[in-house]
Amino acid sequence: GAPQDLAGLHVVVSAGGTREPIDPVRFIGNLSSGRQGVALARAAQDRGARVTLVAANLTEPLDGIEDVVRVGSTAELRDAVRAAAPGADVVVMTAAVADFRPARTPGAKIKKVPGQGPAPIELVENPDILAELARERLRPGQVVVGFAAETGDETGDVLHHGRAKARRKGADLLVINPVGGGRGFGTDSNEVTIVDAQGETVAQAAGSKREVADAVWDAVLKLSPPLAA
Ligand code: C5P
Repeated sequence: GAPQDLAGLHVVVSAGGTREPIDPVRFIGNLSSGRQGVALARAAQDRGARVTLVAANLTEPLDGIEDVVRVGSTAELRDAVRAAAPGADVVVMTAAVADFRPARTPGAKIKKVPGQGPAPIELVENPDILAELARERLRPGQVVVGFAAETGDETGDVLHHGRAKARRKGADLLVINPVGGGRGFGTDSNEVTIVDAQGETVAQAAGSKREVADAVWDAVLKLSPPLAA
């Protein structure tokens, strides 16, 4: 079996992609499968942690994961993560969160009016849940981990954006993974560079999403000051 090196820890993992309602039947969404987040939750549980998985619109099988909170929109995801965070030693935000949401959500389906063009959808900015968690530390000493799916033609470009994001968001670790061109979203493997809050590389990992998940937990355990179990 797996080493029980996360025993005694409570971890919160968000996974999937948010859906921002446009009207009762439509939404703005994204292509995140949630597989990397589910792999992180399973790996943590196997290594002895108590896990809360905040699952945004997941269709992945979640059998065996003990505590699952299902959410749809960014507002729901934020509420669920913030409700669980005060009891958590580690919060990992793998969910793909919409940066913007429709300013208004009518109670009835938006209709196409013959002879009229499309009605514009006004957007407003969502709160950055990861940046808030990093700033507020809802439990003292809590470790906060983010993910950054970056597109870019060459690795250098991807890493450059990721390192800047790490410094901006203030998370203890940021897991940068290149997406697009068949990489990342919806695939069974992943390739990541893990950087610290200063944007310095602390680890690299490639392989199955489970192998990447184990590398993330290894990096969490190597942080200083160390997590007290
Ligand atoms: O800025 P970007 O969306 O690339 O950052 C990705 C990281 O930030 C992920 O960990 C994601 O879960 C988190 N995020 C968030 N709230 C947002 C947008 C992103 O927590 N509104």
